[in-house]
Amino acid sequence: MPRTLTFLGIESSCDDTAAAIVRAGRGAPEILSNVVDGQVDLHAAFGGVVPEIAARAHTEKLDLCVMQALDQAGLTLRDVDGVAVTAGPGLIGGVLAGVMCAKGIAAGAGLPLVGVNHLAGHALTPRLTDGLAFPYLMLLVSGGHCQFLLVRGVDEFTRLGGTIDDAPGEAFDKTAKLLALPQPGGPMVEREARTGDAGRFRLPRPLMDRPGCDMSFSGLKTAVLRTRDALIAEHGGLRVADRTDLCAGFQAAVADVLAEKSRRAIAQYLALSPAVPAFAVAGGVAANQTIRAALEQVAAEAGLRFVAPPLRLCTDNAAMIAWAGIERFRIGLTDDMTLAARPRWPLDQTSPGMLGSGKRGVKA
Ligand code: KG4
Ligand code: ZN
Repeated sequence: MPRTLTFLGIESSCDDTAAAIVRAGRGAPEILSNVVDGQVDLHAAFGGVVPEIAARAHTEKLDLCVMQALDQAGLTLRDVDGVAVTAGPGLIGGVLAGVMCAKGIAAGAGLPLVGVNHLAGHALTPRLTDGLAFPYLMLLVSGGHCQFLLVRGVDEFTRLGGTIDDAPGEAFDKTAKLLALPQPGGPMVEREARTGDAGRFRLPRPLMDRPGCDMSFSGLKTAVLRTRDALIAEHGGLRVADRTDLCAGFQAAVADVLAEKSRRAIAQYLALSPAVPAFAVAGGVAANQTIRAALEQVAAEAGLRFVAPPLRLCTDNAAMIAWAGIERFRIGLTDDMTLAARPRWPLDQTSPGMLGSGKRGVKA
C-alpha cells in the first residue's frame, strides 16, 4: 500500500492564482483545501487576458493563496511531503511566478519539488475524483485547450487530435462578444440558446469531412459574424429571437462536432481493449448541458463509463496539480532547482505541434 502523502499544489499558468493541499494514502484521495483566486475583473476592460497584468497579480497573490490553502487544511509546511507546481504550458510570466514560489518553499522547507504539465493536471483529475484506471480517454475542452488524449499512465499520453485554431471556449466567448453578451461568453450563450431554435440557422460543422479527430472552430465564429451582419442589414438590428436562435445554432454546431469527433476518438481508444472503458471530460466547456449530454450519449452508445469531474475541478485549479505531483512522486519523478518554466510543453512529445495559441494561453 502506498504511504500517505500530503502535497501542496501551485497553479498560475493563466488567469487563476491557485494553491491546494491534497492527501492520498490507502483510500480515496482527499482535497484538504482548494483556493482559487481568479483575475477576471483585472482583465475585463481589455477583452482578454493581458499577460503582464496576469504575471504581476500572480506574484502578488501566490504566497497569500499558499497560506490560505495551508490554513484551510489546518496544516503547516511541516505536515507537507512535497510541493507540486505547474511548470507549463501557459503564459510564461505566470508560470515563472509559480515555479519561483514553489522553488522557494521547497528549498526553504527542505521538501521535494515536482514540476507538473498543466494539461497532465487536467488529464489525471478523473483519477483524483473517480479513481479511473489507465487507460482512459479524455477530452479537454476549455477556453485554452481542446484535445483528445489517451491517458495510458502518469506520464504516458497520446494525443489523438485537437483544435487546429480556436478552442471551443474561445469560440463561445467570441460569439458572445459578437452578440453583445457579457463575458465569459459560454454560460451566456448557453442561457440564450435555451429559448432558441437550433434549426433556423444551419451553421457549418468544420472538418467533419476530414478523417481523424482534429477540429476547427474559428470558421464557426466567422459564420456567426456573417449571419449577424446579414440580420442587421435586413432588420436594422438584432431581434430577441435572432440572438437566441443564433446562440442555439452555434451551440448545436459545437456539440455536433465534439460528439462526432468523440465517436472517432472512442473507436481508436477501444482498439487498446481497456478492461473498464471510460471517457472523461474536463474544462469549462464541459459545464455546458447540451454538450455534456451529447458526449454522455456518445459514451453510452459505445458502452463507456462517462466521467465529468465537478466543475471546480474541471476548470483551472491547484488540487489537480497537487494530485499530479503525488502521482509523479509515487513513480519517482521529481525535479530539482533547475526546473524550468515552459511556455510551450506538449503532453505528447511524439505528435506534431498544434497550430495557434489561444487568447487564454498556449494550447500546446
Ligand atoms: O477551463 P476554463 O475555466 O479555463 C480555461 O480556459 O483554461 O474554461 C473557461 C472557458 C471559457 O471560454 C468559458 O466561456 C467556457 O469555458 N465556458 C462555457 C460554459 N461555462 C464556461 N462554455 C460553454 N458553456 C458553458 N456553460
Ligand atoms: Zn486549464
